[in-house]
Amino acid sequence: MSKGKSDFPVANIRRYLEPGPIVLVSSAWRGERNIMTMGWHTVLEFVPALVGCVISSGNHSFDLIRRSGECVINVPTTALTNKVVGIGNCSGASVDKFKKFRLTAEPAEKVGAPLIAECHAKFECKLNDDRLVEQYNFFIFEVVKAHVARRPKYPQTLHYTGDGVFMVSGKIISRKSLFRPGML
Ligand SMILES: Cc1cc2nc3c(=O)[nH]c(=O)nc-3n(C[C@H](O)[C@H](O)[C@H](O)COP(=O)(O)O)c2cc1C
Repeated sequence: MSKGKSDFPVANIRRYLEPGPIVLVSSAWRGERNIMTMGWHTVLEFVPALVGCVISSGNHSFDLIRRSGECVINVPTTALTNKVVGIGNCSGASVDKFKKFRLTAEPAEKVGAPLIAECHAKFECKLNDDRLVEQYNFFIFEVVKAHVARRPKYPQTLHYTGDGVFMVSGKIISRKSLFRPGML
């Protein structure tokens, strides 16, 4: 062990690698709608805009998304912190989370799942590839429509570090001049 470092439980590395932002995934199937909180997502490709998401098969959302092949990834800000936690700690199998957490469902343009009006950004997604769902609960979605509020330019998003603790996005720094144009 190098000086000043301590052994760290591998099960907790999410604290350093889980980038966030925490999102709210809305879904719908045959008249039922739902929301879940999600931190395990990653950008896979820019064009087409592919996003990979881990959605546990134990979640009610899993069934709605598997059946419909669609969802909306909504990006909340700190204004919704307590709702984000509440939504991630109860099941939509027995409750309408839009009602319970007083959130507004708005019709999307290209998918059946509703947008969450109170969120800063909303990305309408269609399932692109489900080959890793059975083994890893890993869904690959294509974002087919994006809605983003004009202001603020840098919203205060939530980034989960585990153990009930969030980091809030803050200071903005630019190093644009150091980038090769193709990397921007
Ligand atoms: C901060 C936070 C992050 C979460 N991230 C994920 C995630 O990435 N994938 C997942 O399957 N569940 C995640 N969850 C758990 C689900 O949100 C939770 O199981 C929820 O109750 C599922 O709702 P549903 O059964 O109505 O779909 C997270 C919960 C919290 C509080």
